[in-house]
Amino acid sequence: MNIAIINGPNLNMLGKREPEHYGSSTLDEINNQIKSTFTDIDFNFFQSNSESDLINFIHDLKVDYIVFNPAAFTHTSVALRDAIKSINVPFYEVHLSNVHRREPFRHQSFFSDSAVAVICGLGKQGYFSAIQHIIENS
Ligand code: DQA
Repeated sequence: MNIAIINGPNLNMLGKREPEHYGSSTLDEINNQIKSTFTDIDFNFFQSNSESDLINFIHDLKVDYIVFNPAAFTHTSVALRDAIKSINVPFYEVHLSNVHRREPFRHQSFFSDSAVAVICGLGKQGYFSAIQHIIENS
């Protein structure tokens, strides 16, 4: 099974960035932990701060599932929404923080209505829970 783990803007700053919201692990640490936990799965990890790079990456994907934290683009990007819908691959929307306990502009998502599931507020555990759900339901 192939799963893409995609992270949007500013998530390359994990570990340094607002740890009260996002925890103390870096993105590399999280991705390495994912790899070593689920050794039977082929992962394709991608992070970008650029909307167009994320869109182009998604267009070229050949995977069974996507676990996606669109970060700030969650709340703004019709273009990314259209990209992920264009490839017909089931995806899970993950947020480290509970966006519903934060500013009102974070309560809106351009992805949630198309996602298999939305996981928010569990920190890095959210990525693991999404993958676990894929394994148990595929
Ligand atoms: C985030 C929540 C977004 O509102 C924010 O812009 C992020 C990270 C999260 O993982 O909690 O960059 O997606």
